[in-house]
Amino acid sequence: MKLYNPGGERGSAMSYAGLLEKIEIMRSTLRWATRIERPDVEKLLRQANTLRDEVMGLSHKERFVQALGGERRTDAADGTAPEPLRLEPSHGERRRALLARSFVFEGTFGDNPKLLDALEIAEKAAPTDLPVLVDGESGTGKELMAKVIHANGSRADKPYISVNCGAIPDSLLESELFGHKKGAFTGAANDRKGKFESAHKGTIFLDEIGELPLPGQVKLLRVLQSHEIQRVGSDETISVDARIVAATNKNLRKLIEQGSFREDLFYRLSVIHVTLPPLRERKDEIPLLIAYYGDESAEALGRAPVALTPRLRDFLLRYGYPGNIRELRNIMYRISCLAGETGDLSHLPEDIRPVNALPQSAAAVPAAALSMAEAKRVASDEAERGCLERGLQEVGGNVAELARRWEMNRSHLQILLKKHGLHSKDFRKQG
Ligand SMILES: Nc1ncnc2c1ncn2[C@@H]1O[C@H](COP(=O)(O)OP(=O)(O)OP(=O)(O)O)[C@@H](O)[C@H]1O
Ligand SMILES: [Mg+2]
Repeated sequence: MKLYNPGGERGSAMSYAGLLEKIEIMRSTLRWATRIERPDVEKLLRQANTLRDEVMGLSHKERFVQALGGERRTDAADGTAPEPLRLEPSHGERRRALLARSFVFEGTFGDNPKLLDALEIAEKAAPTDLPVLVDGESGTGKELMAKVIHANGSRADKPYISVNCGAIPDSLLESELFGHKKGAFTGAANDRKGKFESAHKGTIFLDEIGELPLPGQVKLLRVLQSHEIQRVGSDETISVDARIVAATNKNLRKLIEQGSFREDLFYRLSVIHVTLPPLRERKDEIPLLIAYYGDESAEALGRAPVALTPRLRDFLLRYGYPGNIRELRNIMYRISCLAGETGDLSHLPEDIRPVNALPQSAAAVPAAALSMAEAKRVASDEAERGCLERGLQEVGGNVAELARRWEMNRSHLQILLKKHGLHSKDFRKQG
């Protein structure tokens, strides 16, 4: 599937032309059809799904290229130039080589060597049918990696079935994975296909495999060895051809030592083993991810991207992200939802917000961390915020009164309060 040519505009235009051509073929098929039989409907659906994925792929790629351009955001309404969500340009040769080889990994950003190691392994593993085990902390992109492997393999247009092994009650596990025959147990009102059968010819993603109880592990092992399943309550064996990708945030070797994971199953699943690094080990990617998810969240919320105050940006660049990329993404969505034109520390979730998110002295930030311009801005932000707080205190939180006293436009004043995360009600006199 050729989605993107890193050669710039020409590649992009060619890909668009290719897509348009495919859409035209579908349109003329539909225009001249007098009757459409079910198999044709299925075929058209498959074509439409492929087109949708390709369009999504293109849009991801375009955003990535734009993001690398580090476009400036619009200026804040108070006239001060906001801190743009700027990116460091990446010139990773390995990343470009992956793109040039048409390896599709939309949505997977960064050119940290550990991430590229993982992507290069995935690239080689994808066209094979070998089982892949993806491990890494929560939120590091294991599921995304499983989809990348599926999308780049020969089964890309076949089903991708995801099973969360940690979320199935023990009693339903077998029926969930292998299906059941009508009447096999109370509540089995009909014959039902299991996940393995649904994934026939495609990929089955066994998420949180470390949570699978031992009896389930034995059954899974049997399927991996025989490529056959039996529905619960049936003697009939059914051949299944499903490519296995498993993921875990546990250390399976440790679980083996503790006796809660079968060693033979581990070796069956981990023919190819991909480990995703935690975000704190790829901090170089944080600016790119802030920019990407800043843009994505703004688009999703139908608003302009939020500018970040220097101290918020500084926090986001240094924070440890125990929830990894998912946590960073959630934080950017939160900021885009809560902030006005400019996001500040007060827009961070309470449990990670620095204890003193109130005016921070420029002197408190290590000098080496700030450029002269940033230091000036921190100081000016600090003075502005202090002034607003004192003003609000004097008028007991009455914004209209403060605007009158300062001979200021009221909505401009509101914007400034928003920028600093100040709420007039917090200054109202009690009783
Ligand atoms: N390299 C990346 N670049 C951009 N976004 C990413 C990257 N890796 C993961 N993400 C995003 O981070 C979020 C979490 O990814 P994903 O669900 O794949 O993580 P996970 O490892 O399966 O997490 P968990 O262990 O909690 O299930 C998703 O929104 C995903 O799109
Ligand atoms: Mg996951």
